[in-house]
Amino acid sequence: MTRTFWVGGNWKMNGTVAAVKELAKTFNAGTTSSDVEVVIGAPYVYIPLLADSLRNDWAVAGENCYVKASGAYTGEISPEMLKDVGAKWVILGHSERRNVLGESDQFTAEKTVKALEAGLKVVLCVGELLEEREAGTTQTVVNRQLDAVIKAVSEADWANIVIAYEPVWAIGTGKVATPDQAQDVHAAIREYLKSAVSPKVAEETRITYGGSVNAKNCKETAQKPDVDGFLVGGASLKPEFLDIVNATN
Ligand code: G3P
Repeated sequence: MTRTFWVGGNWKMNGTVAAVKELAKTFNAGTTSSDVEVVIGAPYVYIPLLADSLRNDWAVAGENCYVKASGAYTGEISPEMLKDVGAKWVILGHSERRNVLGESDQFTAEKTVKALEAGLKVVLCVGELLEEREAGTTQTVVNRQLDAVIKAVSEADWANIVIAYEPVWAIGTGKVATPDQAQDVHAAIREYLKSAVSPKVAEETRITYGGSVNAKNCKETAQKPDVDGFLVGGASLKPEFLDIVNATN
Protein backbone atom coordinates (compact mmCIF):
# COMPACT_ATOMS: atom_id res chain seq x y z
CA MET A 1 0.00 0.00 0.00
CA THR A 2 1.07 3.60 -0.39
CA ARG A 3 1.36 5.65 2.72
CA THR A 4 0.07 9.21 2.26
CA PHE A 5 2.90 11.68 2.83
CA TRP A 6 2.34 13.59 6.09
CA VAL A 7 3.82 16.94 7.08
CA GLY A 8 3.29 18.53 10.48
CA GLY A 9 4.26 21.90 11.81
CA ASN A 10 5.01 22.25 15.49
CA TRP A 11 4.93 25.88 16.49
CA LYS A 12 5.96 25.02 20.07
CA MET A 13 5.58 28.02 22.45
CA ASN A 14 5.63 30.63 19.69
CA GLY A 15 3.09 32.97 18.17
CA THR A 16 0.83 35.96 18.67
CA VAL A 17 -2.70 36.56 17.42
CA ALA A 18 -1.27 38.67 14.61
CA ALA A 19 1.33 36.04 13.66
CA VAL A 20 -1.27 33.24 13.61
CA LYS A 21 -3.46 35.27 11.25
CA GLU A 22 -0.52 36.12 9.03
CA LEU A 23 0.79 32.54 8.82
CA ALA A 24 -2.67 31.16 8.11
CA LYS A 25 -3.00 33.70 5.30
CA THR A 26 0.37 32.67 3.85
CA PHE A 27 -0.37 28.95 4.10
CA ASN A 28 -3.88 29.35 2.68
CA ALA A 29 -2.47 31.03 -0.40
CA GLY A 30 0.02 28.22 -1.05
CA THR A 31 -0.42 25.59 -3.70
CA THR A 32 0.07 22.09 -2.38
CA SER A 33 -0.22 18.66 -3.84
CA SER A 34 -3.47 16.89 -2.97
CA ASP A 35 -1.71 13.73 -1.83
CA VAL A 36 -0.08 15.21 1.25
CA GLU A 37 -1.71 15.42 4.67
CA VAL A 38 -0.82 18.57 6.61
CA VAL A 39 -1.28 19.31 10.30
CA ILE A 40 -0.23 22.38 12.31
CA GLY A 41 0.44 22.11 16.03
CA ALA A 42 -0.20 25.35 17.86
CA PRO A 43 -0.16 26.56 21.47
CA TYR A 44 -3.49 25.86 23.18
CA VAL A 45 -4.57 29.50 23.25
CA TYR A 46 -4.26 29.91 19.49
CA ILE A 47 -6.02 26.70 18.46
CA PRO A 48 -9.54 28.18 18.02
CA LEU A 49 -8.19 31.08 15.97
CA LEU A 50 -6.01 28.81 13.85
CA ALA A 51 -8.82 26.29 13.34
CA ASP A 52 -11.05 29.16 12.14
CA SER A 53 -8.44 30.77 9.89
CA LEU A 54 -6.64 27.81 8.35
CA ARG A 55 -7.54 26.22 5.01
CA ASN A 56 -9.98 23.31 5.32
CA ASP A 57 -7.65 20.73 3.81
CA TRP A 58 -5.14 21.20 6.65
CA ALA A 59 -5.82 20.18 10.26
CA VAL A 60 -4.86 21.63 13.62
CA ALA A 61 -3.13 19.81 16.48
CA GLY A 62 -2.63 20.43 20.17
CA GLU A 63 0.97 20.09 21.32
CA ASN A 64 0.12 18.16 24.46
CA CYS A 65 -2.87 17.08 26.56
CA TYR A 66 -3.72 15.62 29.93
CA VAL A 67 -5.13 12.18 30.71
CA LYS A 68 -8.53 13.19 32.14
CA ALA A 69 -11.60 14.58 30.38
CA SER A 70 -12.29 17.24 33.03
CA GLY A 71 -11.91 17.90 36.74
CA ALA A 72 -9.66 19.45 39.35
CA TYR A 73 -6.41 19.48 37.36
CA THR A 74 -5.44 23.13 37.43
CA GLY A 75 -3.72 24.29 34.28
CA GLU A 76 -4.26 21.10 32.32
CA ILE A 77 -6.12 20.69 29.02
CA SER A 78 -8.04 17.53 28.10
CA PRO A 79 -8.16 15.80 24.72
CA GLU A 80 -11.91 16.44 24.74
CA MET A 81 -11.26 20.19 25.10
CA LEU A 82 -8.80 20.15 22.21
CA LYS A 83 -11.41 18.48 20.07
CA ASP A 84 -14.06 20.94 21.23
CA VAL A 85 -12.04 23.92 19.96
CA GLY A 86 -11.24 22.42 16.57
CA ALA A 87 -8.11 20.29 16.95
CA LYS A 88 -8.13 16.95 15.16
CA TRP A 89 -4.67 15.85 16.28
CA VAL A 90 -2.38 16.05 19.28
CA ILE A 91 1.43 15.84 19.42
CA LEU A 92 2.50 13.58 22.31
CA GLY A 93 5.85 12.53 23.74
CA HIS A 94 7.76 15.39 22.18
CA SER A 95 11.34 15.42 23.46
CA GLU A 96 10.68 18.78 25.12
CA ARG A 97 7.87 17.15 27.12
CA ARG A 98 10.07 14.16 27.93
CA ASN A 99 13.33 15.96 28.67
CA VAL A 100 12.33 19.44 29.83
CA LEU A 101 9.08 18.57 31.62
CA GLY A 102 10.19 15.11 32.73
CA GLU A 103 7.32 13.12 31.22
CA SER A 104 7.79 9.35 31.22
CA ASP A 105 7.17 6.73 28.54
CA GLN A 106 4.21 5.48 30.60
CA PHE A 107 2.63 8.92 30.96
CA THR A 108 3.02 9.46 27.22
CA ALA A 109 1.36 6.10 26.57
CA GLU A 110 -1.50 6.97 28.92
CA LYS A 111 -1.99 10.28 27.11
CA THR A 112 -1.99 8.44 23.79
CA VAL A 113 -4.76 6.13 24.97
CA LYS A 114 -6.90 9.00 26.29
CA ALA A 115 -6.40 11.12 23.19
CA LEU A 116 -7.40 8.25 20.90
CA GLU A 117 -10.43 7.51 23.08
CA ALA A 118 -11.47 11.16 22.74
CA GLY A 119 -11.29 10.85 18.94
CA LEU A 120 -8.04 12.70 18.32
CA LYS A 121 -5.28 11.38 16.10
CA VAL A 122 -1.84 11.23 17.68
CA VAL A 123 1.60 12.28 16.53
CA LEU A 124 3.80 10.11 18.72
CA CYS A 125 7.33 11.49 19.04
CA VAL A 126 10.31 9.29 19.84
CA GLY A 127 14.03 9.89 19.66
CA GLU A 128 17.38 9.55 21.36
CA LEU A 129 19.67 12.03 23.10
CA LEU A 130 23.14 12.70 21.67
CA GLU A 131 24.82 10.60 24.37
CA GLU A 132 22.45 7.72 23.63
CA ARG A 133 23.33 7.85 19.93
CA GLU A 134 27.03 8.00 20.76
CA ALA A 135 26.63 5.02 23.10
CA GLY A 136 25.00 3.07 20.24
CA THR A 137 21.66 2.78 22.06
CA THR A 138 19.44 4.70 19.62
CA GLN A 139 17.26 1.73 18.75
CA THR A 140 17.02 0.51 22.35
CA VAL A 141 15.78 3.94 23.44
CA VAL A 142 13.34 4.32 20.56
CA ASN A 143 11.98 0.79 21.00
CA ARG A 144 11.52 1.40 24.73
CA GLN A 145 9.56 4.60 24.01
CA LEU A 146 7.45 2.74 21.45
CA ASP A 147 6.93 -0.25 23.72
CA ALA A 148 5.01 1.74 26.31
CA VAL A 149 2.50 2.74 23.63
CA ILE A 150 2.46 -0.68 21.94
CA LYS A 151 1.41 -2.25 25.24
CA ALA A 152 -1.29 0.36 25.87
CA VAL A 153 -3.11 0.58 22.51
CA SER A 154 -4.87 -1.91 20.26
CA GLU A 155 -3.67 -2.93 16.81
CA ALA A 156 -6.55 -0.95 15.25
CA ASP A 157 -5.45 2.22 17.09
CA TRP A 158 -2.31 2.43 14.96
CA ALA A 159 -4.44 3.68 12.05
CA ASN A 160 -4.73 6.91 14.04
CA ILE A 161 -1.10 7.28 15.05
CA VAL A 162 1.74 8.88 13.09
CA ILE A 163 5.21 8.32 14.49
CA ALA A 164 7.68 11.21 14.47
CA TYR A 165 11.30 10.15 14.86
CA GLU A 166 13.06 13.19 16.27
CA PRO A 167 16.67 12.68 17.34
CA VAL A 168 17.06 15.16 20.19
CA TRP A 169 20.49 16.28 18.98
CA ALA A 170 18.91 17.46 15.72
CA ILE A 171 16.08 19.50 17.24
CA GLY A 172 16.52 23.24 16.89
CA THR A 173 20.26 22.79 16.41
CA GLY A 174 20.55 23.18 12.65
CA LYS A 175 22.27 19.76 12.75
CA VAL A 176 19.87 17.69 10.65
CA ALA A 177 20.17 13.90 10.53
CA THR A 178 21.50 12.77 7.16
CA PRO A 179 18.95 11.13 4.85
CA ASP A 180 20.67 7.78 5.55
CA GLN A 181 20.63 8.26 9.32
CA ALA A 182 16.88 8.99 9.17
CA GLN A 183 16.23 6.07 6.81
CA ASP A 184 18.18 3.63 9.03
CA VAL A 185 16.19 4.46 12.16
CA HIS A 186 12.86 4.57 10.29
CA ALA A 187 13.53 1.16 8.77
CA ALA A 188 14.41 -0.23 12.20
CA ILE A 189 11.22 1.25 13.68
CA ARG A 190 9.18 -0.36 10.91
CA GLU A 191 10.91 -3.68 11.54
CA TYR A 192 10.18 -3.35 15.24
CA LEU A 193 6.49 -2.61 14.59
CA LYS A 194 6.38 -5.71 12.43
CA SER A 195 7.44 -8.00 15.24
CA ALA A 196 5.95 -6.12 18.20
CA VAL A 197 2.57 -5.24 16.62
CA SER A 198 1.92 -6.74 13.18
CA PRO A 199 3.18 -6.68 9.57
CA LYS A 200 0.06 -4.70 8.59
CA VAL A 201 0.72 -1.96 11.14
CA ALA A 202 4.39 -1.87 10.15
CA GLU A 203 3.44 -1.44 6.50
CA GLU A 204 0.72 1.16 7.03
CA THR A 205 2.03 3.41 9.83
CA ARG A 206 3.53 6.71 8.71
CA ILE A 207 7.00 7.30 10.18
CA THR A 208 8.04 10.92 9.84
CA TYR A 209 11.31 12.69 10.60
CA GLY A 210 11.79 15.80 12.73
CA GLY A 211 14.88 17.83 13.61
CA SER A 212 16.14 20.92 11.77
CA VAL A 213 14.12 20.16 8.64
CA ASN A 214 14.06 23.05 6.19
CA ALA A 215 13.16 23.75 2.57
CA LYS A 216 16.68 22.89 1.42
CA ASN A 217 17.34 19.62 3.23
CA CYS A 218 13.87 18.04 3.02
CA LYS A 219 13.86 16.87 -0.60
CA GLU A 220 16.53 14.18 -0.42
CA THR A 221 15.27 12.78 2.89
CA ALA A 222 11.72 12.72 1.51
CA GLN A 223 12.88 10.26 -1.16
CA LYS A 224 13.94 7.62 1.37
CA PRO A 225 11.61 4.62 1.33
CA ASP A 226 10.78 4.63 5.04
CA VAL A 227 10.47 8.40 5.44
CA ASP A 228 6.76 9.22 5.17
CA GLY A 229 6.92 12.91 5.98
CA PHE A 230 8.24 15.46 8.46
CA LEU A 231 7.49 17.11 11.76
CA VAL A 232 8.85 20.62 11.45
CA GLY A 233 9.61 23.11 14.23
CA GLY A 234 11.26 26.44 13.37
CA ALA A 235 10.59 26.29 9.63
CA SER A 236 6.86 25.79 10.22
CA LEU A 237 6.71 29.39 11.43
CA LYS A 238 7.90 30.62 8.03
CA PRO A 239 6.55 30.62 4.47
CA GLU A 240 9.18 27.98 3.58
CA PHE A 241 6.95 25.44 5.35
CA LEU A 242 5.02 25.30 2.07
CA ASP A 243 8.15 24.04 0.31
CA ILE A 244 8.48 21.27 2.89
CA VAL A 245 4.82 20.34 2.38
CA ASN A 246 5.70 20.01 -1.30
CA ALA A 247 8.93 18.08 -0.64
CA THR A 248 7.92 15.16 -2.84
CA ASN A 249 6.84 17.26 -5.83
O1 G3P B 1 8.64 18.82 16.60
C1 G3P B 1 9.49 19.46 15.73
C2 G3P B 1 10.85 19.56 16.24
O2 G3P B 1 11.13 19.26 17.51
C3 G3P B 1 11.96 19.93 15.36
O3 G3P B 1 12.20 21.27 15.61
O4 G3P B 1 13.01 23.50 15.02
O5 G3P B 1 14.49 21.49 14.75
O6 G3P B 1 12.58 21.82 13.22
P1 G3P B 1 13.14 22.07 14.58
